[in-house]
Amino acid sequence: MSTFTNYDSSAASDYDVARLPIGADIMEKFIRKNSPAGYEQTNLVDFGTGTGSYIVELLKSGLKYAMCTDFSQIMLDKCEAKLSAGGFDERFGIKKVCLPDSGFKNDEFEAAKCSMVIHHLVKTNENGVVDDWSPIGNAFSEAFRILKPGGVFVVAFSTPEQRGGNWYAHLVPATRARTIARCPSKEKVRELLQGAGFEVTDEEVMTNHYCSNETYYDHEIFCKNQRAWFMDSVLSSATEEEREAAKAKVKEFAEKNELKKFLEEHDDFKNFGCGTIIAGVKGLSATAGQ
Ligand SMILES: C[S@@+](CC[C@H](N)C(=O)[O-])C[C@H]1O[C@@H](n2cnc3c(N)ncnc32)[C@H](O)[C@@H]1O
Repeated sequence: MSTFTNYDSSAASDYDVARLPIGADIMEKFIRKNSPAGYEQTNLVDFGTGTGSYIVELLKSGLKYAMCTDFSQIMLDKCEAKLSAGGFDERFGIKKVCLPDSGFKNDEFEAAKCSMVIHHLVKTNENGVVDDWSPIGNAFSEAFRILKPGGVFVVAFSTPEQRGGNWYAHLVPATRARTIARCPSKEKVRELLQGAGFEVTDEEVMTNHYCSNETYYDHEIFCKNQRAWFMDSVLSSATEEEREAAKAKVKEFAEKNELKKFLEEHDDFKNFGCGTIIAGVKGLSATAGQ
């Protein structure tokens, strides 16, 4: 389960308020390019599926089947309701899983995906530093084990610059620091993928914000919609006390007409994007556990 965001709380019920499946097109592209079956014949397992928004897009674009896994029952219930409402009943499965174990058989899927999950898997030490990235490596090894030879694994994540570069993260500075400490660099993710046995094949930066550029650049979003305070894990993992202080700050800036200035001064999304998507392939001659 996540060691720092409680996804059986408002973090789950308000997740879809502003969050969009940005980058689904990049994931589709990487799966189409690398899957050992045609895209329409590809069975995918999703680690930490959340409310299933990415799966809706992938199934719409022709992916054969998605097995959706998550630790949070609330997220899984939302995911199931969304996929059923979308008319995908025969094309998805739901399983409660606590990574790094998945319980699937060796060589079961042609594709695996894990988006915006890996920073939840690690712990920081008493100095606020991650000195053990192995929980991510273990989840990658699990993906490797359950993929067929030639299978593709797509990982979407935010680097420290990307996660900390959102202007609103500066409203909760203590949580911003705690969160970005858990975010691996691109080099670390590549290294962990290779350590698990994958050959890294593709990489692309997400230049559209995962809450949409329109929402991201709306300096009044936190005045207009109180549920926006839970739209990403920097905000949703803030303590109640820090969130209240942030709300007071927003109120004060708004009264002084300084919210736009605050956004402009703290916006690094324009420089770094909001996430990175990397694909790795399990070599054709690889066997599970290799
Ligand atoms: C930020 S959400 C991402 C959801 C979705 N993948 C997306 O990109 O919209 C993180 C998800 O990871 C799940 N999660 C965190 N730790 C987990 C673990 N150890 N095992 C399984 N799921 C986990 C959470 O419950 C949550 O649904």
